[in-house]
Amino acid sequence: MRAFGRLISLLLAGVYFGRVAFAVFQDEAYKSDWQWMNIGEYKCVIEDNHGSFLILSDLGDQSMLSSVNRTDGKILYRRPVPFKAFDLMLVDGGKKMILKVGRGQFELIDTENSFHLGTYVGGFQSSCIPNYSGIRFEGDKLKVLDKITDLEIFHAVLPNEPRTIKYVDTDQVGYLSLLVEHNDFYYYSEYHDGELTNKWSRDESITDIVDFTYVSEVDNNTNMIYSEWNTEGSLNIFRAYIYRVKQNWGRLKHLLVHHKKSPGAILTDILKEDEEETLKQRNLKFGFLKKLIVATKKGKIAAINMENGEKLWAIDTNLSDIIALETAKKESEIFIFTNRGLTLVVDLRNQYEPHIKQKATEFATEKVGRLGSSDDFYLRGSDGSTIMFADNSINDFSSVIVDHTSSSINAYIVENGALHQIWKIETQEDEEIVAFAPRDDAPVSNIGTILGNRTVLYRYLNPNLASYIVGNKKLNLITVNVVDLVTGNIIHSVYENNTLNLDQPINLVFGEHWIIYSYFSHNIVAEQRISVIEMYESLQPNSRVSVGSIVQDALKNDIRPQFVSQSFIFPEVIKEMIISRTKFGITSKAIVLKLENGQITYLPKFLLNARSVEKSKMSATDLQEFMAAPYVSTIPINDNFIITHHRNIVDGNKAKLISIATNLESTSLICSLSHDIFCTKISPSSQFDKLSPSFEKGKLFATIIGLLCVCYFLRPIVDTRKLKSKWLVKENYL
Ligand SMILES: *[C@@H]1O[C@H](CO)[C@@H](O)[C@H](O)[C@H]1NC(C)=O
Ligand SMILES: *[C@@H]1O[C@H](CO)[C@@H](O)[C@H](O)[C@H]1NC(C)=O
Ligand SMILES: *[C@@H]1O[C@H](CO)[C@@H](O)[C@H](O)[C@H]1NC(C)=O
Ligand SMILES: *[C@@H]1O[C@H](CO)[C@@H](O)[C@H](O)[C@H]1NC(C)=O
Ligand SMILES: *[C@@H]1O[C@H](CO)[C@@H](O)[C@H](O)[C@H]1NC(C)=O
Ligand SMILES: *[C@@H]1O[C@H](CO)[C@@H](O)[C@H](O)[C@H]1NC(C)=O
Repeated sequence: MRAFGRLISLLLAGVYFGRVAFAVFQDEAYKSDWQWMNIGEYKCVIEDNHGSFLILSDLGDQSMLSSVNRTDGKILYRRPVPFKAFDLMLVDGGKKMILKVGRGQFELIDTENSFHLGTYVGGFQSSCIPNYSGIRFEGDKLKVLDKITDLEIFHAVLPNEPRTIKYVDTDQVGYLSLLVEHNDFYYYSEYHDGELTNKWSRDESITDIVDFTYVSEVDNNTNMIYSEWNTEGSLNIFRAYIYRVKQNWGRLKHLLVHHKKSPGAILTDILKEDEEETLKQRNLKFGFLKKLIVATKKGKIAAINMENGEKLWAIDTNLSDIIALETAKKESEIFIFTNRGLTLVVDLRNQYEPHIKQKATEFATEKVGRLGSSDDFYLRGSDGSTIMFADNSINDFSSVIVDHTSSSINAYIVENGALHQIWKIETQEDEEIVAFAPRDDAPVSNIGTILGNRTVLYRYLNPNLASYIVGNKKLNLITVNVVDLVTGNIIHSVYENNTLNLDQPINLVFGEHWIIYSYFSHNIVAEQRISVIEMYESLQPNSRVSVGSIVQDALKNDIRPQFVSQSFIFPEVIKEMIISRTKFGITSKAIVLKLENGQITYLPKFLLNARSVEKSKMSATDLQEFMAAPYVSTIPINDNFIITHHRNIVDGNKAKLISIATNLESTSLICSLSHDIFCTKISPSSQFDKLSPSFEKGKLFATIIGLLCVCYFLRPIVDTRKLKSKWLVKENYL
């Protein structure tokens, strides 16, 4: 068993440090992941010197320059520019451009590579206004006129209303090209042989995501199995057994009837390559068929198939202040919260054409929170303190509700249908809460960590915990705190005063019994640090303080955990950090990191081990612990763990990085939602519960059948030999 553990740990460590990729299999890259590469709203469209379109658009509080191939509408490049530009002027024969960044303020950049060349002072004439000379509009017609006589040469009928013309070009002989916007779709058309034909279109409606939710497609088979289990549970053992046999017999009968009682048909069905329908059934069973529902800054609500990124439906709510999307009533409704409270409800029961219902809570809302997994929500007012329920009738809720602002943490309980504050933590002057993470509510599969010498360290698994980081701008330090949500006591507090840079992102996650946080320090050299704190009931192996059979009273909890911590250097700036989620929490956790360069990678939790020490301090038994690796101060980025591959993901201000569990314990869906939308699947402990798509069923069956045949022929020979040797008959080979 120990040898097996060592083998697995060697293998997994080898996977990380070596070149074997378990992350996304090579043959699955660009198949199991997808991306919506958005440009956004086209503020200016011009033609560059290579004949491609150069497009100016917004990107958070900056701008972006994109180049689009005129022939097929594909993006050639997208480059963020560090200004918010409103207008653009080409100069120097198109080699340079002037960006208007404010009233009378201009910046000069190079067209070829978007390098900033300096500030510009002088005259400005926009290059963005389409050149309408020799063109006239009459109703739905666009007429091209002769320069001299002003007579019509040809005309084109424009599609779609309402529309905005973004670009038009004509040679005033027989050629016209046109880029038109309609409902955030951009259509490029060219005039040929008396007709305006659409060459390509780009959908720019689903960009700048403000919030998301998701609904899962229901697998009727799984539901059936669950209902059978429930029935069995209510029967006595014999009747349950008979019930099970009956159900299975029914299934066998169904299989035989389905295949017309031909064993050949059943065998070919097992061996044949996967068809679309079986693939769909399998994805359903694995829980991959989910709809990602997103709300954009401009008020569009869209459902996207998470398997392939296809847009299923979109509705225009015309709301520009959406703050949250939440599912309710067993994922049959979606609540849309705006700055005015609960504003709209989308009914999903008709999955092709969702239905909108108006709601009118008038409450200046800043934040929305859900009470556990119920359908009740609370709203925090824009003054930061008042709290009320989205729906006035409130079911009783027994847990503590914790809400935080940048200056305080407030805890409430529901009593007789009303909220009562139980405690409050406020920050001092110059202080700010820069990160807050309640303990991940994912299931826990293991209560202890087994050491190399087969002793156990018991983990501190109190579910009522949260951690938060307070940043002090004046002293340039952060304090990482762990707070007991029931009592409001701070049970642990550590300082980091490594000359911090509080302008860089600070991230915090709280898994089972550990906290991981990252910050940027410029202590001597600038470096990204990632630290881990682990909590144990006792650091003495085999000593357990809590008693498994007794439920601890959260109010009188006097078990004080013990802490171990360790810190590492990471080579890239970490913009965001989340924990991968799986259905049962058995798969070893991964820390998914969004890097500043737009890539997404992940680190297995065992690499961030708070108990890791240098190799020289590890004994032979220490090395036998599962996944124990000696301490290395710098964690390298392994190319195989970059789950975005060569993709370039462009984010606005802040991306939402999310992880959604599937029915496969090994697999978790990861998405990044912002200006772009990107989704993929990761398997932090390899796909142990799924055969790879290239698994050769045929060869396996052939081998088994071959072996059976060999056995069939060998057996009589062996039997005769045995008999002969018993009778002392010598084999006569001659
Ligand atoms: C634009 O697309 C066409 C057709 O796909 C291709 O032939 C051409 O090389 C592309 N142009 C550029 C600049 O990539
Ligand atoms: C607009 O187009 C006409 C004819 O095609 C051309 O003569 C004129 O210079 C163009 N104007 C600008 C500002 O490019
Ligand atoms: C599951 O069953 C419901 C009703 O019995 C049906 O409407 C639905 O289409 C089924 N879903 C699938 C994926 O077969
Ligand atoms: C949003 O505005 C469009 C056009 O003005 C209108 O057709 C649509 O019905 C509106 N949607 C809602 C939910 O009011
Ligand atoms: C087991 O290993 C741990 C960690 O190295 C050590 O603290 C403990 O004393 C060991 N226990 C025994 C019984 O050897
Ligand atoms: C910062 O660290 C130094 C040295 O580690 C220590 O002496 C000092 O007290 C710390 N400052 C604070 C405010 O914790």
